[in-house]
Parts: sequence; C-alpha cells; structure tokens
Amino acid sequence: MTLLSNHAFEQLRQIPLYVPGKPIQEVQRELGLESIVKLASNENPWGPSEAVKARVIKAATGSQDEGLGLYPVSDGFYLRSAIARRRGFNLGQIMLGNGSSEIIEMAAKAALLGGGSGVAPRHSFAIYGIATRTAGGRFIECPSSPAAIDVDAILGAVQLDTRIVYLGNPNNPTGVLLEREGLARLVRELRDDILLIVDQAYAEYEDPETYPDAATFLDERSNLLVLHTFSKIHSLAALRIGYAVGHLKLIALLERVRSPFNTNMLAQVAAEAAVEDYAFEAFSRARNTEARQAFLAEAANHRCQVSGVAGNFVLLESALPAPELFKDLLKAGVIVRPMQGYDLPNHVRVTLGKPEEMRAFWAAAAPVLDNAGCGCR
Ligand SMILES: Cc1ncc(COP(=O)(O)O)c(C=O)c1O
Repeated sequence: MTLLSNHAFEQLRQIPLYVPGKPIQEVQRELGLESIVKLASNENPWGPSEAVKARVIKAATGSQDEGLGLYPVSDGFYLRSAIARRRGFNLGQIMLGNGSSEIIEMAAKAALLGGGSGVAPRHSFAIYGIATRTAGGRFIECPSSPAAIDVDAILGAVQLDTRIVYLGNPNNPTGVLLEREGLARLVRELRDDILLIVDQAYAEYEDPETYPDAATFLDERSNLLVLHTFSKIHSLAALRIGYAVGHLKLIALLERVRSPFNTNMLAQVAAEAAVEDYAFEAFSRARNTEARQAFLAEAANHRCQVSGVAGNFVLLESALPAPELFKDLLKAGVIVRPMQGYDLPNHVRVTLGKPEEMRAFWAAAAPVLDNAGCGCR
C-alpha cells in the first residue's frame, strides 16, 4: 500500500472537489475575450466602499505598529469589538474566520471530533458536505425541493450519531428563505447536543425589519452558531473574512480549532470599517432589490422559472442542460454558475449585478432561452 492508497486518502478521493465560479482572467485567457461579465460567485459589484478602500491603503502602507511586516492581531480583538458593538453582543460571543467557509470547517472539525454525522438539506452550499466529510463525519443530505426549506425533513434526517446540522438562510443556491416560524421550530426541536449552524451569508440583503435573524434565539439555545460574511454585501470577498456569533462557552471551545492568525490584518481593518458603513450596506441592498425586480420581470418575459427570491442571486431553470447554457453564455463573455453538481441539472445561478451587467446577461441569454423554448414547468 502506498500513501495515496491508504484508507484516509481513499476516503478523501470520494469527497467531491469544490468547484468555484470561473475567474474573469481564466475566461479572458481561454477565449481571448476582452469584455467579461462575471455573475458566478455572488459578489457585490458596487464595492467595497471608498471608506473601506482608504482604510486598507492606510494599513498596507502602514507604520511600525500597523504594517505588512507584522503578524495580525491573532484574535481580531478590534474587529470583534466593532461587530459586538454594532450587533449588541459580548466580545466573547464573536469568532472570526478566513471567510465564513473557514468557520464552517472549524465547526465541523470541532463537532465531529470522534466521528458522527452532519445533516443539511439537498441543494445547499457545497461546503457543508465537504467540511463534514473532511472532518471525518458522514454527510446526510435530507430531501428538499429548490422551492422551499422543509424543517420536518431536516429534523427527520437527524440520526443518533448526528453532531451538526447546517441551514443556509437564505439558502444558496436556491434563494429560498425559511421564515421565523419554521426557524423557531428547527431551533427548538433539534436535540440540544447537536450544533446548529445557521449560515446567514446573505442576510444583509433582506429587509432588516422582517428578516428572521437566528441570533435572536441565542439567549435560549447554546447549541446555535450564526454565521455572517464580509464577502457578500460588504464586497470584501478577496480579503476572506467572516464571523460567527454563539454562546460564550461554545465560542471559547471553538477557539481550540482556530489556527493562530487565521484572519489577516488587511481583512480585519477593512471589515472594521465595513461594519460601521451602514450607508453602503443600505445602498447595496437597494441596488440588489432593483436588480432582482428587473430580473424577475425579464425572466417572466422569457417564460423562465426562478426559485426563491432572497439573496443577491437568482436560480434560473431552463429547458437547457445547465452545462450547455453555461457554455453558450461563456462564449458571449458572461460567466454564470452551472448547478448540475447541486442536483439541479437544468439550473444556472445568476448573481445580480449592475444594470449594464444584467443587460449583457439578457442580451446573451434571451436568444438561447427563447430558442430552447424556455417555458419549463
Ligand atoms: C451560503 C454561503 N455560506 C458561506 C459562504 C462563504 O463565504 P466566505 O467564505 O467568502 O465568507 C458562501 C459563499 O458563497 C455562501 O454562499
């Protein structure tokens, strides 16, 4: 037996590779196109804000106590303080990650130490399964439709050995939101020895008055971990930073699986400025709502089916196999995300971009969809 055929590596081979959105530079290289529109990774095209950029430049060109030659503040004290202030939590309830993906991995590593299983609905963010399995756990996908999150199916999929449950709210890639009543039932009925991750990466795109924030349950449930990211509405995807909010004792334990200096200095200072930037957040939310309304109207014109309407993206179902539509759009310089790997063979996910980007999308997509007789369902 060689190293790569031993038991661990054999298991690793069975775990699917995460396929990210195709980068602009790669498409330019491969197709020799100048003008590319990327609507593939749910980034915010409007930012980051000027205040955030200025803070990053200041830090990058910084002095003795804030420069690129120094390790960052390992526990992100200043950023965590800013988040705690804005959100009304204790500092000790906040943990930072190199993107919220890293927090998902840390949570899985902690919860599945010694084995067990993790549960998530079908058609959820791929990292839930990958994190579970690379932590040595068994991954259970419970039945789910692209149109709704089924709390009973999640609760029903839980096994005796289940240690972690994941819920994206809104869910990526379906754009479906679980309303407060369903969320309350999940939070209250899930066994309290199971870690419940509520991933709120797209929460800030929803109306703050009505969004069912899982953090409101933190006082009654200590097995709950609520995740946010700076990659989406704050437009800091390149810097890789996100945070989790949970019970003091849970966060203190999770610290044991966090690598020292896991979030870098530029990310910390940028996020610190972003946390205070209410105006940019409101601006981005408003542009996203406009883009979504325009998209839904256009999709109806082309008799296309969309799933949920939350987040900064739309899941579009067509008569064409996803890889085919993806390739047709790519030829026109428009990158979307084909969803066949998420058990959605005829769906592509389209990030809501600037008006000119959406015009480029429809200019490329409309003839293809109309030609295919898009009126699916
Ligand atoms: C539902 C969901 N959670 C988490 C993430 C991870 O974001 P990041 O690692 O950039 O914070 C994403 C990214 O697309 C996502 O869609």
